[in-house]
Amino acid sequence: MYLGACTQGPDSPRGFSLPEGDPQAGEAVFIAYQCLACHSLKGYEDTDIAPQLDKKVPLGGDVTKIKTYAELVTSVINPSHKIAMGYKREGYTDEQGQSKMRNYNDVMTVTEMVNLVAFLQPQYQLKPFNRTNYPQYFP
Ligand code: HEC
Repeated sequence: MYLGACTQGPDSPRGFSLPEGDPQAGEAVFIAYQCLACHSLKGYEDTDIAPQLDKKVPLGGDVTKIKTYAELVTSVINPSHKIAMGYKREGYTDEQGQSKMRNYNDVMTVTEMVNLVAFLQPQYQLKPFNRTNYPQYFP
């Protein structure tokens, strides 16, 4: 049986938990921090914000690589951690392979981040973040 390297050990998301967020407050965070400069999100087309990427990164839905709550949080506070292969090809990273996403860690409060993720989470088909997903074998 194969288990991904990150599912166990000190870097595992096991035991990771954030307080429950307020999605409505999170929507305000999403707008205020101008995530739409680089992202598209169904129902949130905003033409007033000057685009910062040639091609916007879609959030939510089935089109993304995000699978778990922990990955969603990671995407916001540590975007370069796990850049999807597709993004590398499409010019979403700089010469060093770092994400072009703005770093919010020194400007966003933890409360804002928790609310933001509570807002974003329902836009994705997420699996619960504390569940271990054992690979299934289809003969
Ligand atoms: C300057 C451009 C820029 C801004 C502003 C920006 N992002 Fe991003 N974001 C990116 C890029 C580029 C990627 C794709 C590469 C990566 O995963 O880091 C990305 C990826 C993501 C992902 C992962 C998407 C996926 O499906 O893998 C999430 C979630 C995300 N951003 C949320 C946000 C939120 C929330 C904000 C506002 C607080 C924001 N971003 C602001 C550029 C930006």
